[in-house]
Amino acid sequence: MLVAGNWKMNPPSKADAIALARRVLEVTPLDAGVDVVVCPPTIWLDTVALTLQGSAIAAGAQTMHWEDAGAFTGESSPSMVAELATHVILGHSERRQYDNETDEKVARKVVAALGHGLVPIVAVGETLAEREAGEAETVVSRQLVAGLADVASLDDRAIAIAYEPVWAIGTGVAASPADAQAGGALIRSILRDRFGAPAEAVPILYGGSVTAANAAELFALPDVDGALVGGASLKPDDFAEIVRAAGASAP
Ligand code: PGA
Repeated sequence: MLVAGNWKMNPPSKADAIALARRVLEVTPLDAGVDVVVCPPTIWLDTVALTLQGSAIAAGAQTMHWEDAGAFTGESSPSMVAELATHVILGHSERRQYDNETDEKVARKVVAALGHGLVPIVAVGETLAEREAGEAETVVSRQLVAGLADVASLDDRAIAIAYEPVWAIGTGVAASPADAQAGGALIRSILRDRFGAPAEAVPILYGGSVTAANAAELFALPDVDGALVGGASLKPDDFAEIVRAAGASAP
């Protein structure tokens, strides 16, 4: 199981970020079988990574560029990120929507992340309009196949996929267990077709309004191996509860 907290553009100050990381460290149960990652804003990745140093909680980035260096104003390279983090979220729907993160860019970033020993958490998911048009499966398949287009083989748990239906993100309305399982199963079948047996070991996360109240039900699903948590990751006690639920479902 893998539980990743996506802090997005929160909290408001560096002092708050340190306090949040400390509190997460204090209250999060570190059960066997659950990998826990928190992904602060890049500007505080260094500070938060230092705060978490020596603990079993890892630091992750919310994005990165694919090039090693160069004239890319505002960006962070894979090697910069890899100095501080173990994981990186790629293709989050907010970046697809607001920062023109295309499938092609995700594909380049995935290769770059793997090349630098980072675990990419590749986020895929359909919008409400796409779902209502009956295109959910097509969209998720396209994003996944395109995002992993240049990955030759899967090396065990070196990669994670997050099924995040856009309509469930930040809305308070999580996907139903049936829909979360359908998304996870679709992703698993695509991974199997592409990569064979190693696909079974890839953590498939669900994301979108995961809370302390619904986590256990989601983690009990066969093709949900954890969560990408936004809002609730800013509430250490809720996040801890989600991690606890993951521990209870860990194989
Ligand atoms: P949410 O966000 O948990 O606030 O819905 C999830 C995400 O965007 O990763």
